[in-house]
Amino acid sequence: MPDAHLKVFRGRPGEPSEFVDFDVPVEEGMVVLDALHWIQGHRAPDLAVRWNCKAAKCGSCGAEVNGRPSLTCKTRLSDFDLDEPITVEPMRAFPLIKDLVTDVSWNYAVNRTITPFTPPENLPQEQWRWQQRDVDRVQEFRKCIECFLCQDVCHVLRNHETERAFMGPRFLIRVASLEMHPIDQVDRRQYLKDSGGIGYCNITKCCTEVCPEHIKITDNGIIPLKERVADAYYDPLQWAWRKLRGREATGAGTELPVLPAPVGAPPPPAAATTPTDATATESAPAQTAEPAAAGTGPARPPRRVRTTKSARQTAGRKDAARAPRGRRDGGAG
Ligand code: SF4
Ligand code: SF4
Ligand code: FES
Repeated sequence: MPDAHLKVFRGRPGEPSEFVDFDVPVEEGMVVLDALHWIQGHRAPDLAVRWNCKAAKCGSCGAEVNGRPSLTCKTRLSDFDLDEPITVEPMRAFPLIKDLVTDVSWNYAVNRTITPFTPPENLPQEQWRWQQRDVDRVQEFRKCIECFLCQDVCHVLRNHETERAFMGPRFLIRVASLEMHPIDQVDRRQYLKDSGGIGYCNITKCCTEVCPEHIKITDNGIIPLKERVADAYYDPLQWAWRKLRGREATGAGTELPVLPAPVGAPPPPAAATTPTDATATESAPAQTAEPAAAGTGPARPPRRVRTTKSARQTAGRKDAARAPRGRRDGGAG
């Protein structure tokens, strides 16, 4: 089998960074994470890579492979044209820690702002009853492995476009799993509208495309939530029914944490230093990289920069059109 040519992002915030070339011998069934482990074992023992299960279930190994947010343990090298280089870089929506590892702790802070499952106070659990179709509907959302690939691909988070915070698709489906639970007593629609920023989602469906659990995030989660919010706040009959029913609204006025600007995010591979072989690359001191290719500053405008509607739409189209390069099937990882 031919070698695979990987261009792997290397760097830390505040230091020069670059894409480094590695030729990796390919064996049948290898995935991108195997190639990264080979690089760690034979060429760059200090390459930072986060992983755990190697079974597409822990959600740790997310990175951008040829520009597409992917689980590296689920992305086979045989899916690519090995005559073309394969770029591997960290998730661009989140602050860089080192090499392929990013700080995703913002997501956990957002998660803590969601009111958890709240059953009726006076109904013992053995008396809870609901239909199988309700179980199935919520079960889909509970398949989430918190890889945050959907958060990474979402242009609202990725481009830091909004003036206010946006919780992102992963947490919209968590809210969906609670709102659609027939036993839950809490109304989170005001939270979705005012704090979660559900209105910023323009249903591009990029999140659904990259989800390794094949959750229909937009069709089954976000769109029904948008309809519920529209019913509650723009339909007078529904508004009156909600008042009569007296369902408790929670989360109003909750401030979401601000996603930090991704300082140290990688520059585009084309602008990076591209030595011809791994040996030459590793022996070259990182400080010799051109400042323009160093990628030490923020790659995008910081959060809270307001953009025009047309600019947002353009950015959305760019993200939606970002197909994997050199991938044979063009499918999800
Ligand atoms: S549909 Fe598009 S805008 Fe909405 S959450 Fe998913 S990726 Fe973001
Ligand atoms: S919804 Fe899918 S893509 Fe998003 S965090 Fe969960 S498993 Fe990952
Ligand atoms: S290593 Fe667990 S999902 Fe890839």
